[in-house]
Amino acid sequence: MCGIIGATGDHDALEIVLEGLARLEYRGYDSAGVALITEEGIWRERSAHGTTSVAELVKLAESAPAVRRTGIGHTRWATHGHPTAGNAHPHLDCTGHLALVHNGIIENHTELAAALVARGHVLTSETDTEVVAHLIEEEIDGGLGLAEALRAALKAVRGAFSLAAVHRDEPTLIVAARRVSPLVVGLCEDETLLASDIPALLGRTRRVVTLDDDQLAELTPGHLRITTLDGDEVAVVERTVDWDLEAAEKEGYPDFMSKEIREQPHAVADTLLDRQAPDGTLVLDEVRLSDQSLREADKVFIVACGSSYHAAMVAKYAIERWTRLPTEVDIASEFRYRDPVLDERTLAVGVSQSGETVDTIQAMREARRWGAKVLVVSNVVDSSMAREADGVLYTRAGPEVGVAATKTYVAQIVALELVALKLAQLRGTLPPEEISALLGQLQTLPGLLERTLERSDAVDAVAGALHGARDFFFLGRNVGFPVALEGALKLKELSYLRAEGYPGGELKHGPIALIEPGTVVVAVATRNRLSEKMLSNIAEVKSRGATIVVVASDGDDATAAVADHVLWVPEVEPLLSPIIDAVPLQFLAYRLARLAGYDVDRPRNLAKTVTVE
Ligand code: M6R
Repeated sequence: MCGIIGATGDHDALEIVLEGLARLEYRGYDSAGVALITEEGIWRERSAHGTTSVAELVKLAESAPAVRRTGIGHTRWATHGHPTAGNAHPHLDCTGHLALVHNGIIENHTELAAALVARGHVLTSETDTEVVAHLIEEEIDGGLGLAEALRAALKAVRGAFSLAAVHRDEPTLIVAARRVSPLVVGLCEDETLLASDIPALLGRTRRVVTLDDDQLAELTPGHLRITTLDGDEVAVVERTVDWDLEAAEKEGYPDFMSKEIREQPHAVADTLLDRQAPDGTLVLDEVRLSDQSLREADKVFIVACGSSYHAAMVAKYAIERWTRLPTEVDIASEFRYRDPVLDERTLAVGVSQSGETVDTIQAMREARRWGAKVLVVSNVVDSSMAREADGVLYTRAGPEVGVAATKTYVAQIVALELVALKLAQLRGTLPPEEISALLGQLQTLPGLLERTLERSDAVDAVAGALHGARDFFFLGRNVGFPVALEGALKLKELSYLRAEGYPGGELKHGPIALIEPGTVVVAVATRNRLSEKMLSNIAEVKSRGATIVVVASDGDDATAAVADHVLWVPEVEPLLSPIIDAVPLQFLAYRLARLAGYDVDRPRNLAKTVTVE
């Protein structure tokens, strides 16, 4: 989720790169850097000043050499390594003649780094990226030109990447390659540009070529050559972009929320990357707590706010089922002011997309005062919570601009379920085969999410039929209950409609008095051990005149038969189902808000990060 920009041609590459970086900054990156080929060799500057990094770079660039026709730049959203200037891209090889920028995750970077160090390389950063610079260096030492060296180096690399590199000895060339992470080339008469995102190019050109997976591009002034990573020639297919800048930042989506909903398969896949050793065991290397202290924990206490709290509730079911550890979940602002029972054998888990929510920060401090070990699940590397914690497991959802949590929420559930499986492994509460099977199921989620996303039109049709309704109940049982709460929260915050989330069996203890013709009941009724009971709960509200919408597992005709509207989803292991079931509810809230004419990215009265009590 980093931003890449490159330029080679007759114009000032530094100016083009800095302008492109400024256009990419809207995502709120943590650091930025630029490398140029000058008459003296590679010139590089980097800055880690959060969202003012590019402005800092502009100041630093005042000392750049005058002639600069080829350059690459990068804005970083940290995944591996802290957001420091030393970890900011571009990274250099040992000779200092090669500079490289990268977006994505090099999955096998640990083993590659160990091998490179054993062969005498000096690695200076904590990033997964730097290994690629040194792998290319070895190929160049062996006599290859830059393009062939990148092609050869990539044979050793596993993971997702878009990469761009320049070398002092080929001063007008930028080479680039992609697998999974996006990369586009911009064409002009006398210069050729490269970027991870179209907005970065818009100040210069609207003629673009999108690279496909496993392609390598060679950019020289006014020329572009594309080959596959195997070396076969690929035809260059150009298109003209007619987006304005705002539309381009959203990559053609009408708003950030729809873009971020569509990014969920990626968010989940990236959060799962790198977590399993070749023998199938779980490696959560960013968890700095020893296996011993995790094994000794006799209780888990998860604390969070909003959607993060709903992710925590899902995790409770998984942790208790898989590890038999008593698990409490609390809202951070409540936890702080009561007398929670926890001690040095408690594992306190703070869940926060931003890592800056003040109630959760204070709750984690409180937990530490009680002697608990603190683990944080955060999307922002080096956030306040991450820095203070004993251990941190990052979700890798990339920056989330929309106020409503979507991709970070599903990534949190995945991360917390990985923690649950790790605890089960350490405590021996699940047989290894079952852990492998569950990890295998987690790996199927990106594909299942893609299939679920394809069904947005069906949700839109249901939203159209519900438009005008004012009162909504969301019902669920077991892990379906937090899904119901999350569905109701999304609807409230985006559509300003009254929406309550309830456990299906609880309604008859009071709230059922509110059900009347016109009330909409959205039942999370995907197959699980309580499906039959859920059907009875649906019957209770249906007989009182509610309009019934069900989220149902594909092929479950019995559930569909009791509903007025069905939101079908692919079936998955019940403890993983909240990740899939969230999607139609996100679409429903989104569409109802849009039908009412509301701004889904900036709902009224809300801030993306709540840094006040
Ligand atoms: O950054 P955090 O995860 O700590 O934020 C917690 C809540 O403020 C957040 O989830 C909020 O509820 C979202 N707007 C929900 O969409």
